[in-house]
Amino acid sequence: MSRLDKLYLGTNTKMYKTISQTKEFVRSLERLTGDMSEEETSLFVIPSFPSVGPAKQCLSSGRIRIGAQNMGWEEEGPFSGEVSAPMLKELGADLVMIGHSERRHELRETDRMENGKVLCALRNGITPLLCIGETGEQKDYKISDECLSIQLKTGLSQVSAEEAEKIWIAYEPVWAIGAKGTPADPEYVRRRHSTIRHTLEALFGETPGREIPILYGGSVNIDNAVSIIREENVDGLFIGRSAWEADSFNRIIRDVLPVWREKQRA
Ligand code: PGA
Repeated sequence: MSRLDKLYLGTNTKMYKTISQTKEFVRSLERLTGDMSEEETSLFVIPSFPSVGPAKQCLSSGRIRIGAQNMGWEEEGPFSGEVSAPMLKELGADLVMIGHSERRHELRETDRMENGKVLCALRNGITPLLCIGETGEQKDYKISDECLSIQLKTGLSQVSAEEAEKIWIAYEPVWAIGAKGTPADPEYVRRRHSTIRHTLEALFGETPGREIPILYGGSVNIDNAVSIIREENVDGLFIGRSAWEADSFNRIIRDVLPVWREKQRA
């Protein structure tokens, strides 16, 4: 079975939900999606650090994975304010988001830092979800593909082909994220995902390069989710605002699932 026999759907709740709100959210999501099979859908929620353990504990099965929004690049050390991979592991985190645009741009993280975090996550058995994306300015200069390729080659430096079997990628154009973002059109998404796929194949070979899940994120909503998932090499969606109510997230999942199945059969 290939990793791409599954549809990947998740949300990052940023710095929005408290512990009790996160628990309520994941419980409702688990209930609403109870009929979905783990073989077909990989659902995940990435809450803020204090909610990782509580969210994990209030789920009755491992069907919904819980991730962290960031992580230090060393197992331990004098890094006040950072959280390490072993700490996250102890909380039960299944995955870790690395290099989200807000970390890169608001907190000045670099590709080198993201690379250290990817390697650290792999050493500790946590799935790294590496986020990449060009800025609006880079898009205007028509250097989006070059930027994505640099972010992948640097962020995944020293990752072996065997380790690459565990990573996930999220393509999130910076200009498409958040309330001020402009949703990317599906054709644009398809072209960028194709670049990402080629770069992954160049880095790791056809196997596992062809099987690394590439998710799209940035202003995904109930109106555009279906047209994005139809595109080639879009293996899932990484959603912010439109997924923060369990009902709305569930509705998006149910809208895209039949379209994704159709694409798999084609
Ligand atoms: P958005 O957020 O869907 O609210 O644009 C996406 C993200 O930041 O991952």
